Amino acid sequence: MTTINAVTDLVFDDDVALLVIDSPPVNALSHAVREGIVAGVRRALDDPRVKAIVLICKGKTFMAGADITEFGAPLKAPDFLELEAVIENASKPIVAAIHGTALGGGLEVALCCHYRVAVPSAKCGLPEVHLGLIPGAGGTQRLPRLVGVEQAAEMMLSGEHVPATTLRELGAIDELVPEDQLRDAAVEFAGRIVQAGAALKKVRDLDEKLHAARADSSLFAALRQRIEKKTRGFRAPEYIIRCLEAAVTLPFDEAMKVEQKLFAELLHSPESLAQRYVFFAERQVWKIPDIPEGTPTLPVEKIGIVGAGTMGGGIAMCFANAGLPVTIVEANQEALDRGLTVVRKNYESAIKRGRLSPEEVAQRMALIEGTLELGSLADADLVIEAVFEDMSIKQDVFRKLDAIVKPGALLATNTSALNIDEIANVTRRPEAVLGLHFFSPANVMRLLEVVRTRRTSKSAIATAMRLAKRIGKIAVLVGVCPGFVGNRMLFARQEQANAMLLEGAMPWDIDRVLYEFGMPMGPFAMADLAGLDLGWNKETSKSATIREVLCEMDRRGQKTGAGYYDYDEHRNARPSPDTEKIIRDFVRKTGRPTRTLSAQEILERCLYPMINEGAKILEERIVVRASDIDVVWINGYGWPAYRGGPMYYADTIGLHTVVQKLEEHAPKLGRGFSISPLLRQLAAEGKRIHELRLEQ
Ligand code: 3HC
Ligand code: NAI
Repeated sequence: MTTINAVTDLVFDDDVALLVIDSPPVNALSHAVREGIVAGVRRALDDPRVKAIVLICKGKTFMAGADITEFGAPLKAPDFLELEAVIENASKPIVAAIHGTALGGGLEVALCCHYRVAVPSAKCGLPEVHLGLIPGAGGTQRLPRLVGVEQAAEMMLSGEHVPATTLRELGAIDELVPEDQLRDAAVEFAGRIVQAGAALKKVRDLDEKLHAARADSSLFAALRQRIEKKTRGFRAPEYIIRCLEAAVTLPFDEAMKVEQKLFAELLHSPESLAQRYVFFAERQVWKIPDIPEGTPTLPVEKIGIVGAGTMGGGIAMCFANAGLPVTIVEANQEALDRGLTVVRKNYESAIKRGRLSPEEVAQRMALIEGTLELGSLADADLVIEAVFEDMSIKQDVFRKLDAIVKPGALLATNTSALNIDEIANVTRRPEAVLGLHFFSPANVMRLLEVVRTRRTSKSAIATAMRLAKRIGKIAVLVGVCPGFVGNRMLFARQEQANAMLLEGAMPWDIDRVLYEFGMPMGPFAMADLAGLDLGWNKETSKSATIREVLCEMDRRGQKTGAGYYDYDEHRNARPSPDTEKIIRDFVRKTGRPTRTLSAQEILERCLYPMINEGAKILEERIVVRASDIDVVWINGYGWPAYRGGPMYYADTIGLHTVVQKLEEHAPKLGRGFSISPLLRQLAAEGKRIHELRLEQ
């Protein structure tokens, strides 16, 4: 074995040299790795014994891309193009041996090798789009030459990790090799290449798979149209399409210049900076200062759920999707049947959309059992309560669960805003009680707020975090406060949105501003979707708010065809003259003057109080770091990732400006409003908030 540098070795197997990369955790192409590969390839090329080279990685994965932490400064030589030229122009065959994930720059380097072999479990992808980037090491040019323009577009625009088995069929992988024999099989493959005197295949020279796109003049327009809605506000998807256009219209080297120019532009764009921040923020959430890795966890193999309503059914699907058996308990047969029917319908629509096979759905449905007997939960490892949002009902359920469910098992509530300490206090196991706040629809939304009470044990928290990972959620640990992180900030926004209606703005004026900012919808469209009658009671309704008046007129949201908006049969919203009249009449009765509110004022009054609330959440140590708040808003409420979350956004505006504007708006922000001392202090010191971490 020859050590090339700290992270690469050259190992010889007869006349094949294995260039072994060992740079944990994911073999990212850092400067040391790039340097090591170039030096290793050169050494192997100079060595007359060597007839072929295999590029292979140690650890859990092939190279997972460029080292994102190096993006802040100019890349030290050798950069990607120099590295790739050394590989592609090598005079001896180079074979990439892929396991784990070959992603981004990692796949791009593999595409410069003359051949690629992979184990069937390997996956490959160009996920740069999630970082606000395009593949910037030739991926936009080489991938379409191997798999065709449409497939390459799909991979680059979705960023998905595609199984090696699929890529073998598409032609990007030359051979699949047995799972546990990658090294030997790759050496054997390289030997065969040498024996056969096979050509040194350069992907850049291929052209055939570009023909179809050249012949289809409507391809790119159709692509743009298809992604328009989903990628609103993001820049990278459009740039990926431009690179593909270049691939089919320009010679390779010219098209590479287009890719390089667009990549460089994106690398310094505010969108990519924000998305790279989000990438690391989403990995930080799992690190909890007072709960170190290795904290003992409880085995969780059987789940119980109480309540088969909107949330209970979705939560059951989350666990069944991960292969865990679930027992759902309802109060009556009708509600149980209704709940299970919704679950089945959701799965059926997954079959229709080609997401799941009928067999997979049958397996998942078989894991979900419905019953009216709370006693059936006796041997559950975790029970999640999802009954009505009412403290006494929840306490009653917890008292019963505490008596029935085996000692040590965790009891969780899905409450949106109630005090979980008060729920825990009715049990004899408060250390095993916590909040698992799923977001609606629970089977779709990635966010899970894991709520710790004053008494939740570290082991219960560690168990919940591990379980969250297992069911594919992104979990953020939060403390108890009304609404926790997400809803508490949402309330702050909603209060202002409601206030602005009384000052002269219409629901659609406010919604439009937030939609244009990048949110999927504004507060009033969201209210119509959820139902205006959530928590509304016909008997006690007193026309005291605009919302109450709408409910009294049976304008209860999308489900009744009218709420703040009017809806057609396809649930398309239109501003409603009736709502406008209701609001104007309501405001007239209050005797308040109205005025025109600017889009800027609407934006500031919706977002800055949220930022202020976020700062208070930090002051109260409800979260351990500011970036956790951003992860909540991106994954739970659709805050645009290219704006990095509310706390990150605050720093792009400047805390000084945020505080100044809050002071300016203060007379309109309500009697209870106050500016967070932390926010004031950071603003006065010229500091940033999104990087704030609290010591325990
Ligand atoms: N650069 C730097 N660090 C990286 C990294 C990268 N490309 N990919 C992962 N890491 C770090 C993570 O931050 C994390 O660090 P931590 O332990 O200190 O928090 C650690 O590696 C492990 O990562 P995960 O927790 O994400 O591990 P998983 O096993 O869950 O997932 C993975 C592994 C699928 C490889 C996932 O890490 C991933 O998707 N990585 C990013 C892949 C990517 O986006 N590649 C493209 C980069 S841009 C590029 O290549 C540009 C090129 O076109 C020029
Ligand atoms: P829901 O009204 O759709 O469902 C509640 C279900 O609980 C009903 O089917 C009811 O029959 C059942 N139930 C009531 N008492 C019961 C008992 N004692 N035993 C067994 N079943 C009982 O309510 P939803 O929307 O599912 O909400 C449930 C909880 O989740 C609430 O605490 C809510 O605040 C919270 N939540 C709701 C979200 C939403 O968007 N709907 C989002 C996040 C949390």
